[in-house]
Amino acid sequence: MSAKVVVVGSLNMDLVARTERLPRAGETVAGESFFTVPGGKGANQAVAAARLGASVAMVGNVGDDAYGQQLRQALEVEGIDCQAVSACPGVSSGVALITVDAASQNSIVIIPGGNGQLTPASVQRFDALLQAAEVIICQLEVPADTVAWALARGRELGKTVMLNPAPATGPLPAQWLAHIDYLIPNESEAEALTGAPVDDLASARRAGERLLQMGAGKVIVTLGAQGALFVSRDGSRHFPAPQVKALDTTAAGDTFVGGFAAALVRGLGEDDAITLGQRAAALSVTRAGAQPSIPTLAELAP
Ligand code: RIB
Repeated sequence: MSAKVVVVGSLNMDLVARTERLPRAGETVAGESFFTVPGGKGANQAVAAARLGASVAMVGNVGDDAYGQQLRQALEVEGIDCQAVSACPGVSSGVALITVDAASQNSIVIIPGGNGQLTPASVQRFDALLQAAEVIICQLEVPADTVAWALARGRELGKTVMLNPAPATGPLPAQWLAHIDYLIPNESEAEALTGAPVDDLASARRAGERLLQMGAGKVIVTLGAQGALFVSRDGSRHFPAPQVKALDTTAAGDTFVGGFAAALVRGLGEDDAITLGQRAAALSVTRAGAQPSIPTLAELAP
């Protein structure tokens, strides 16, 4: 069966330390626990889409090391098509150094490793996957020219194209936006893309409208506990978030994106797909780690 959701993006091994509070610059703090789990924004979104009911293929790179084998296996056990997950000779796998504090806030340093070697040509080799997909999802943890190629190819093929612009460091190239059906930033990413502060619903609406003017098809600004704001040329709608006690917010955004995409390919409308993504993300923040925290569809059943 060909995959309906194709994710072009990163795979990282997450090295996670829990501490009472995040260290300041130059400071050493004692941690409380340490664990290693599969992550990476691309792989997390692929796992979320698979657990939430979609057939999924991943296009990405790992290194030729033990982490690479573990990252690939973590996707294979979810039934994700990994024919396009390649091991780069002589390169380490992507790694994320994550610190989570008692308030469930995190700070993340990523070392790209194999992710940094995902070229447009290496994605183009698996064009048949893109041709067979309904939805193509990209993020920003692989080289920009590769993201640009995948977005343009998705548009050329008439697919539903999603970009989760994470991590964002500034505005996106203007030509990218015209290729994107759903642009899904969080508050800080919406701020980086527009250059204006985003900290509440009104500023999120302004950012969404600005991104529409810049060419995006539709925008969903995720706002953590404040929910999500859907902004289109027909207006905007706010979706309040389920209230939960957060333990670890790592991969909450990825869970939302994968869940939203899975719901669309299962035939749900936009509103129901947003709500399902939110319910999945809310459950994920009550659990530790990236991929281990992502729920299945069965866990969301009322
Ligand atoms: O979005 C969460 C992810 O960001 C983590 O799994 C980590 O690998 C980083 O890429």
